[in-house]
Amino acid sequence: MNGVEADDLVRRIDGFSRQAREAVEKARSSDDVEALRIRAFGRKDGYLTACLRELPLVRPEERRRVGELANRVKRELEELIERRLTELRGQERQAGRERLDLTLPGRRPALGTVHPLTQVNDEIVRIFMGLGFSVADGPEVESDYNNFEALNIPRDHPARDMQDTFYLSAETLLRTHTSPVQIRTMKETRPPVRIICPGRVYRRDADITHSPMFHQVEGLAVDRGISMGDLKGTLEVFAREMFGERSKIRFRPSFFPFTEPSAEVDVLCFLCAGVGCRVCKSGWLEILGSGMVHPQVLRNVGYDPEAVTGWAFGMGVERIAMLKYGVDDIRLFFENDLGFLTQFV
Ligand code: DAH
Repeated sequence: MNGVEADDLVRRIDGFSRQAREAVEKARSSDDVEALRIRAFGRKDGYLTACLRELPLVRPEERRRVGELANRVKRELEELIERRLTELRGQERQAGRERLDLTLPGRRPALGTVHPLTQVNDEIVRIFMGLGFSVADGPEVESDYNNFEALNIPRDHPARDMQDTFYLSAETLLRTHTSPVQIRTMKETRPPVRIICPGRVYRRDADITHSPMFHQVEGLAVDRGISMGDLKGTLEVFAREMFGERSKIRFRPSFFPFTEPSAEVDVLCFLCAGVGCRVCKSGWLEILGSGMVHPQVLRNVGYDPEAVTGWAFGMGVERIAMLKYGVDDIRLFFENDLGFLTQFV
């Protein structure tokens, strides 16, 4: 077998070592350094790997000297490569962070959407403002008098029960409907009155169609010669605007202590056009309570029921929104789940 000259091997190792060091120092990227590492130490074609393989061919008495040199060169080159890699990778990370790509599309700020109840409320208000009504409001903490007494709801009426009403004291409560705003407005102004009052109301009630806080819109028109016909005409316009041109309404006799006569108003179901479906069953959807303001209520606010008459209505905003959008659980409106809320844009 042919021997390998020790000095020749040493020269080759030294020569490679010098070149390699220089190349590592000059390398501009961590990828270049990685490539150099493979050129030196790669299992198959690595230059130093090949040199070490020749070591057994060196004369035994010189093997130790050459072996030590080869190992030192190997260790030093490995260390240099590690150091340079750390350095270059650090620089590359930094540059990545600072690189500004002007062709990237901008980040759009997430836009909020209007809550479905606010949308429906605003729509109701918009329709009645168009008919010449103005917006009135009153406090959510109300007196028993405005919420019940003045509205002709007697002491023993079931609506006053602790089961239904949040009482704050014997005389104050969270209003159970927006009707007390009728009283406040009439006490403060003289006819003609044409107002709507949107607002929050409270009842001790909670299930899939009842929430302890919900929203109503009250309507009130008082003047000389106001009739049930005016009520019907007004609500017909409202229904057409709210539920579509083809919508129809009907009055059903009902009872409220503060109106006489009283009626509940239904719209023809806009889902099945009156045929009868899962939501409406009968072909009609109840949307509000209404009636001619009771003479006693007019007297309670100092109006003369012989001189003026009026009508009133009250509707639930959640109910209208549920019907309009096919929402079957009222609690969805209050959970602030963006998946739900962003459907109403
Ligand atoms: N206040 C009634 C309620 O909360 C709704 C209502 C019915 C209001 C008839 C009215 C009315 O003004 O005339 O159930």
